[in-house]
Amino acid sequence: MKAAYINKTGPPENIQYGDLPAPKPGPTQCLVKVSAVSLNPVDTYIRGGLIQMPLPSPFIIGCDLAGKVAEVGRDVTGFEPGDRVWGSNQGLLGRQGSFAEYCAVDECWLHPTPDGVTDEQAAASALVGITAHLGLVRDAKLAKGETIFVNGGSGGVGSTVVQLSKAIGARVFATAGSDKKIELCRQLGADFVINYKTQNVEVELKKIAPAGVNVWWETQREPNFDLAVGALSARGRMIVMAGREARPPFPVGPFYVKGCSLHGFVMFMATPEEQRDAAEDINQWLVQGKLKANIDRVMPLSEAAASHRLQEESTIGRSGSLAGKIVLKP
Ligand SMILES: NC(=O)c1ccc[n+]([C@@H]2O[C@H](COP(=O)([O-])OP(=O)(O)OC[C@H]3O[C@@H](n4cnc5c(N)ncnc54)[C@H](OP(=O)(O)O)[C@@H]3O)[C@@H](O)[C@H]2O)c1
Repeated sequence: MKAAYINKTGPPENIQYGDLPAPKPGPTQCLVKVSAVSLNPVDTYIRGGLIQMPLPSPFIIGCDLAGKVAEVGRDVTGFEPGDRVWGSNQGLLGRQGSFAEYCAVDECWLHPTPDGVTDEQAAASALVGITAHLGLVRDAKLAKGETIFVNGGSGGVGSTVVQLSKAIGARVFATAGSDKKIELCRQLGADFVINYKTQNVEVELKKIAPAGVNVWWETQREPNFDLAVGALSARGRMIVMAGREARPPFPVGPFYVKGCSLHGFVMFMATPEEQRDAAEDINQWLVQGKLKANIDRVMPLSEAAASHRLQEESTIGRSGSLAGKIVLKP
């Protein structure tokens, strides 16, 4: 089968595209004929060696996938050949990745793809959808009628958080870095969008949420806790999920006096049951049109190295060249 893989961590040029033997499904695995994968910043950190993980050699890159079950292991109970599925959590913790024509996936990480939802939509909603759901529902417990501020509303995670928050019934404020991306956030349902490059976020937030926001979702790798805690309401909740090296100052006094709470997580450490709960809502919202994957572009899998370069420039280099997800097709 064709696959995008590395023999050694390093720059995007280390990604090779070529033939590898197709995997055989283990007893609890489904062999998925992959028709779409999507790229996440974590893929670039693993490929670059910034996150140390045990890696098979050669290592097929990538977490997300969607496609059709081609074969099932003897203990698989939830799927049969021909079922359309999507999933994430591949290419992590010693598992092979998804950027290939076939991928053997433990059934616990797979979810049915509903009729009417394309594989591109499903793949592009996988990791970011589960991430947004875990943060909003399991951790922040965002409720109907509450307010949420999404710092970075146009990105892969942010654009999903905006939509899921609207699906839950919250009032949503967000930031974006250009007029075009402000418009994108509005189309996704944001009630008010601040340009973080030209406007003062603190001042604008005071105008639209004088009593503070119930939830602050931070997508940035260097959170400004003074700003965030200052903008939270009493009993406000804050989500952090990026910036492994970040060590910013933290305003302990204002934080505890307001009774705030801080929640951090990585999606791939969530249990299969937690991810399944998230996937059920995601599927429902995809079918109802409340969640539309924010796909910036679709590329052939043979351009995996170029896609990694682009993602890295946009997320780490802050070039702003992407607005959402890159989907690749084997
Ligand atoms: N913990 C987890 O489980 C988990 C899961 C998924 C992702 N992550 C991490 O979360 C981060 C975001 O991922 P992603 O896929 O959403 O990345 P992304 O698609 O590259 O989005 C980055 C966002 O940051 C915004 N941004 C850049 N500079 C900003 C600033 N100064 N103030 C406010 N916003 C700014 C961009 O806005 P404009 O483009 O509008 O300028 C864009 O919306 C990454 O570091 C990723 O590794 C963690």
